[in-house]
Amino acid sequence: DAGKSGHEHYMLKEIYEQPTAIRKCLRERVSEMEESITVEELSDLGTLERDGPVQFVACGTSFHAALYGARLLREQGIHAQCFRASEYAAESVPIHSGTVVIGVTQSGETADTMSALRTANKAGASTVTVTNVVGSSAARECDHVMYIRAGPEIGVAATKTFASQQVALTLLTSALTGSASLDTIKRLRTLPDQLQRVLDESTAREIAMEYVDADSYFFIGRGYNAPVALEGALKMKEITYKHAEGFAGGELKHGPLALVTEASPVFAMATGENHVEKMLGNINEVEARGAPVVAVTDSPATLSQYADHVLEVPDAGPRLTSVLANVQLQLVSYWVANELGRSIDKPRHLAKSVTVE
Ligand code: G6P
Repeated sequence: DAGKSGHEHYMLKEIYEQPTAIRKCLRERVSEMEESITVEELSDLGTLERDGPVQFVACGTSFHAALYGARLLREQGIHAQCFRASEYAAESVPIHSGTVVIGVTQSGETADTMSALRTANKAGASTVTVTNVVGSSAARECDHVMYIRAGPEIGVAATKTFASQQVALTLLTSALTGSASLDTIKRLRTLPDQLQRVLDESTAREIAMEYVDADSYFFIGRGYNAPVALEGALKMKEITYKHAEGFAGGELKHGPLALVTEASPVFAMATGENHVEKMLGNINEVEARGAPVVAVTDSPATLSQYADHVLEVPDAGPRLTSVLANVQLQLVSYWVANELGRSIDKPRHLAKSVTVE
């Protein structure tokens, strides 16, 4: 696993490993026959109480996965919140014995996340980690551990671990709320093939070439695409060293719009019927300011009438389509960084795992 398998960078190799990573995450956890999802490692946690509450703590890319996970649980009626691990102690969050605190951390070693989990442990919460690394500090110190099984990730910028975290949190939600449906199971099973299709057919490289000289990049999305907008911007910053920002689509008009110009391409994720219409409103807002628009969408026929370019994703349902949209954004960032000759696998000033607070 440790070689680059013919890819120029580990990051690209890891982007291409995502279908396999997801298959591994699903293995033996999803049963179509019984219409059930089981996460063996979490079975002694039982079923989550509606007013639990559940608190996610995480940093960086894992924080974006945690935002996604909290949304999934809230949709099932669970009182789930999400905190940046570095602010958890300072935010005076009420923690009691009925609280479940979930630390999402690829490495299981991030100091800020460990510190938040230790705060939760001390306060008597039930702690869970969703991690990639067997035997990591988070795995050892939490009451429960769920492995995402993404395999080793060498590139500093997290890619396959994010997709695996999204899938793992989908499984966790179904397992802990007893909400597995045949539809979710079928969509999870189809996801690796759909992701492969995105990788095989993506035109992200051409789009990256077109906008490599941009001053800054904006990413917008609604619903489950809102955390992906943040992740798209983080990836772009990390590996290209260019200014990038991500917003929930509706926030654009409350300030960031002032920064939008013809030199700031906007990547607009418009997937799922509910969000396409509102996203068209956002696209109009930025186009009126001269910004080029790249739509990431499962409705290419509609969006190509409004956007300058379209990056197509298959429909994977209201939640999982965002996994696919994110892959298109990973590829755009990768190709921009590659064209700029950046140190993609080891960006300046960044570390794979930050062990200081
Ligand atoms: C570092 C990495 C990021 C990562 C974050 C959290 O800042 O550069 O890519 O998202 O740590 O890491 P974790 O291992 O806790 O997921």
